[in-house]
Amino acid sequence: MDFKDCMQFIMESQATCTLCTVEGDQPRGRGMIPLWVKDDGIYFTTAASKNLYKQLRTNSKVELCFVTSQPIKHLRVMGDVEFVEDSALREKALEERPFLKALGFDTSNNPNFILFRVVNGEAHFWTWGDNLKEADIPRIKF
Ligand SMILES: Cc1cc2nc3c(=O)[nH]c(=O)nc-3n(C[C@H](O)[C@H](O)[C@H](O)COP(=O)(O)O)c2cc1C
Repeated sequence: MDFKDCMQFIMESQATCTLCTVEGDQPRGRGMIPLWVKDDGIYFTTAASKNLYKQLRTNSKVELCFVTSQPIKHLRVMGDVEFVEDSALREKALEERPFLKALGFDTSNNPNFILFRVVNGEAHFWTWGDNLKEADIPRIKF
């Protein structure tokens, strides 16, 4: 098992995940769809106006959970968020998500447009066969 297996599972699970942040002593989870899954991290877009961005600025630690129901399986990923300032990558992100332009993110230097990636991660899969044996599941670092 390596990060390539994680990439494949993320695609199989329609790439929809719950992204969990921490706000003080309160966990916060919400639906998110990664833009890219690459060797150097899992990329997302969001807006600076959202609460999640404020939470990430205060505490960059996150957990992601990707789930499939057939078969029942999930992939949990913990890591740190790194904001991406590279203008070529930001431009590419806007090109690949045209609905962002329709929302007013017209240029890659728009301060409300946020591109970030989850890095320094540790991931693990879980299936029914792992129930009550969670501590034994191999961890995948990326
Ligand atoms: C399946 C799904 C995917 C989503 N993908 C994104 C996304 O990629 N980026 C984003 O900013 N919001 C996305 N959203 C909307 C956020 O979940 C929503 O704005 C949420 O309220 C933000 O959390 P916050 O209020 O804590 O900031 C998605 C929602 C769903 C249901």
